[in-house]
Amino acid sequence: VGQNLIKLLAVDSTNNFLKRMVSNSEPLPEGTVIMAENQYEGRGQAGNKWHAEPGKNLTFSVLLHPSFLPLNEQFNLNMTISIAIQKALSGIIDKGLSIKWPNDIYFMDKKIGGLLLENIVSGSRIKACIIGIGINVNQEIYETELEHRAGSIFQILHRHVDLVALLAEICSHIEAGYLKLKAGKDSGLRKEYLSYLYQYNIKANYRQNGEIIEGRITDVSESGLLSLETSDGLKTYNFKEIEFVHP
Ligand code: BTN
Repeated sequence: VGQNLIKLLAVDSTNNFLKRMVSNSEPLPEGTVIMAENQYEGRGQAGNKWHAEPGKNLTFSVLLHPSFLPLNEQFNLNMTISIAIQKALSGIIDKGLSIKWPNDIYFMDKKIGGLLLENIVSGSRIKACIIGIGINVNQEIYETELEHRAGSIFQILHRHVDLVALLAEICSHIEAGYLKLKAGKDSGLRKEYLSYLYQYNIKANYRQNGEIIEGRITDVSESGLLSLETSDGLKTYNFKEIEFVHP
């Protein structure tokens, strides 16, 4: 991963760029990485925009061909990538990192990174997966509306981090995790994911259809559903069915 690295100064979105290349059948090796200094239409989950100050952050996409992975096991890839990022970041941040379900990268109660996985599907298999990764690295200031939710590595370490070195570290952890997944050895992937999970086993507030519920995350299923223990019993939620209420 990252052997074939294409660096762009500006692009709408590295995910879009890679998607266009794949649909034009450009011959790209698996593990190709597209990174951009500036994305003018960076995309986040749920149709949100992804804001990142040009030149200061990591915004890149990785091309994988996980055709060995049935669609209903896609969450394994989400877990693998989120864990790889945790491991890479833990080389420079020694505590406070976590994965907020399903795959946001957190430091304490702030989001410092996110993933956007997009599949090109053929039948019930994934032909290509475009893994978009955004990490807030050297950005010092966030707009007030984002301020209490977004943070950067600079704000944690009070120093600048080399983007190329961090990218290489993330790529090598992705490669290691991906090869393990491909080899089919389930060496406790879900358990490892749970060990990194934000608010795991802790009572916190969640919002469902505008209503606040108190719950404790007890599990995440193999397909990625979140289990919450609430005063009404155990409930299971799919992506986007529930929101975290920021402390
Ligand atoms: C999220 O948490 O909402 C996901 C953010 C994903 C952002 C990255 S930046 C590189 C890639 N290109 C995009 O347009 N989005 C992803």
